[in-house]
Amino acid sequence: MVKISPSILAGDFLNLKGEIERLEKSGVDSIHFDIMDGVYVANITFGFKFLSSIKKATSLAADVHLMIIKPGRYIKDFINAGADTLFFHYETVKSHKKIIDKIKKYKCKVGISINPSTPVNALKNIVSYLDVVLLMSVEPGFCGQEFIKSSYRKIRELKRLILARNCKTLIEVDGGVGLNNYKQLIDAGADIFVIGNDFFKQDNHRKYVNIIKEYK
Ligand code: DX5
Ligand code: ZN
Repeated sequence: MVKISPSILAGDFLNLKGEIERLEKSGVDSIHFDIMDGVYVANITFGFKFLSSIKKATSLAADVHLMIIKPGRYIKDFINAGADTLFFHYETVKSHKKIIDKIKKYKCKVGISINPSTPVNALKNIVSYLDVVLLMSVEPGFCGQEFIKSSYRKIRELKRLILARNCKTLIEVDGGVGLNNYKQLIDAGADIFVIGNDFFKQDNHRKYVNIIKEYK
């Protein structure tokens, strides 16, 4: 069954307590935190304090998506603040294995995120070290963008690579995911969805989560 990780960036920051309650009651699996530095991407979001405050208020796992340059500087801080899975961007580092090992050293799950223009093949030598690959289906930076259709092909390619390596790495899709494409994404091989706008605009979150999870 597919897992759902709503991006809190699309939530109401004036009512974070209410948003956390909504998330918990809806049956989602984790909360996705989009950390943006205004350098690697055009947008600036939030940091450690935001993450640790929310983590203290929920039992949901925190998936932390770093869209920052030199992510190695902040691994310890984000894990101390409550990250359960830490994602860094493939494009932001030279020595991927070094960062992977550093994250694992703290007993945190590790993921690499790849941009729409980064080929799946870039992961051929490291995919088996990862708990999850975060495949960007929009250019990183903002919620509410349109899903890039070539992502279906990339999901299938990534699935083939994972099967060829005989590893258990999961495929997470981030950007423009919602009711209009979840079926094709599951069919292509997605294991986890990050959902921002489409989740938070719903009135009945429980129903929304059930519809997506009941497919297949
Ligand atoms: C984009 C972020 C996504 C985004 C998802 O840079 O990584 O997590 O917030 O939001 P939607 O689902 O609205 O595209
Ligand atoms: Zn994200």
